[in-house]
Amino acid sequence: MKVAVLGAAGGIGQALSLLLKTQLPAGSELALYDVAPVVPGVAVDLSHIPTAVDVKGYGADDLAPALSGADIVIIPAGMPRKPGMDRADLFAVNAGIVKTLAEGIVANCPKALVGVITNPVNGTVPIVAEVFKKAGTYDKNRVFGVTTLDVIRSEAFVAELKGLDVSQVKVPVIGGHSGTTILPLLSQVEGASFTDEEVASLTPRIQNAGTEVVEAKAGGGSATLSMGQAAARFCLSLVKGLQGEEVVDYAYVDIENGDAPYFAHPVRLGKDGIVEILPYGELSAFEQKAKDDMLATLNKDIQEGVDFING
Ligand code: LMR
Repeated sequence: MKVAVLGAAGGIGQALSLLLKTQLPAGSELALYDVAPVVPGVAVDLSHIPTAVDVKGYGADDLAPALSGADIVIIPAGMPRKPGMDRADLFAVNAGIVKTLAEGIVANCPKALVGVITNPVNGTVPIVAEVFKKAGTYDKNRVFGVTTLDVIRSEAFVAELKGLDVSQVKVPVIGGHSGTTILPLLSQVEGASFTDEEVASLTPRIQNAGTEVVEAKAGGGSATLSMGQAAARFCLSLVKGLQGEEVVDYAYVDIENGDAPYFAHPVRLGKDGIVEILPYGELSAFEQKAKDDMLATLNKDIQEGVDFING
């Protein structure tokens, strides 16, 4: 198993790489790529942790060897938000970064499973897909927007509110990964029920959780540690699928005849990425309205990504 992390020297990249170094199956290879000159040092640092995962650092000119033979590529590269910014404000700077990295994937490991973290995820996932389409190597079952942070935040907040054992809490989250496009399905949480008031306050708390971190870091960036944990969790689901294990996880994926061209759903994972996109089940009236209301924003975000490559 070879996993490449693109943007490995950043806050998310380092946290993710640490978790992968300690949790990937024995015998795996971890390729750390970054344009920042510190990346060989990050690799040396991690290589002193005694696990059977081989770590190598790759600098700015070494995207091709970093990607060559990769089974999974996770992309946290790019600029984070500052207070007062929306994720969409990052499009101008991050779209080009994602395009370049996607072109590298197409050239070096077109069959890899690709997990995109770089914001705005609603638009950067379509960028990756369009780069693959242009090259004639697109497989919609292999490209994912990582929305796991919305899921783990929901688990943490629900457990806290309801006094539950957080390890037992499961919260489906559908839609996209920004503001009102993030839709936690509180009506489907097993073992907990919520009053209308709780739904009306917990839903925006989950939707604005990224902003809560951005503001708390006061100009020092956005979520890195929780995002690293979320990305590691998702990456390990991809690994399990590749190893032939039955696994279901949530991700923002290309969906035919869905609510929007890309939409976070539960997906069954296997040896070739997505085996099946599962339905998200019945929505409450609150969730149905929230879903309908998000679609204009989500479609606009998606189109911006598509137009960046084809416009
Ligand atoms: C998050 O949800 O924390 C990330 O998408 C980063 C951000 O800008 O909010």
